[in-house]
Amino acid sequence: MRIRTTGLALVGMTVIGVIGPALRAQETTRSVWDGVYTEAQAKRGEAVYKLSCASCHGVALEGIEMAGPLTGARFTANWNGVTVGDLLERVKVSMPNDRPGTLSRQQTADVLAYVFSVNRFPAGKTELVRQTEVLKQIKFEATRPAARH
Ligand code: HEC
Repeated sequence: MRIRTTGLALVGMTVIGVIGPALRAQETTRSVWDGVYTEAQAKRGEAVYKLSCASCHGVALEGIEMAGPLTGARFTANWNGVTVGDLLERVKVSMPNDRPGTLSRQQTADVLAYVFSVNRFPAGKTELVRQTEVLKQIKFEATRPAARH
């Protein structure tokens, strides 16, 4: 009897050990280091960027005065830990700063793909989608996680 109870407790602990991380992972299942956009998408985004963002944020995303850089440690630190869905929403509702809301969701996703490519997040085989709910599963991480895969 004693042994059985201990056995059950062990099973219980194992189940919690397996399910716990799985539940947490459901919130954000991927990160920007997992190849979440394609090179073709980043190319489309580059065209959008040049037309709609470069005048304020600079051709090299270096930032000009009030419009901060969209590349480098300061930018990635700002966004570290938030989801790509939040980033898309933020850009969609507030940028371009002089004409907010003028870009489509597709253009916004494309421009983010370009920003990711400049920040050296790896390209992959599937495009960044337009749906915020789906993009909320992707975490923005400033540095490549150690011991992944
Ligand atoms: C008319 C100038 C202007 C244009 C055009 C513009 N921005 Fe901005 N952007 C700003 C300013 C000013 C800020 C800082 C104030 C703020 O955060 O709203 C900013 C902030 C941002 C931030 C937040 C940066 C951070 O570190 O948190 C992002 C991201 C961004 N812009 C992306 C874009 C993208 C993408 C485009 C093109 C679609 C764009 N912006 C076009 C002026 C501009």
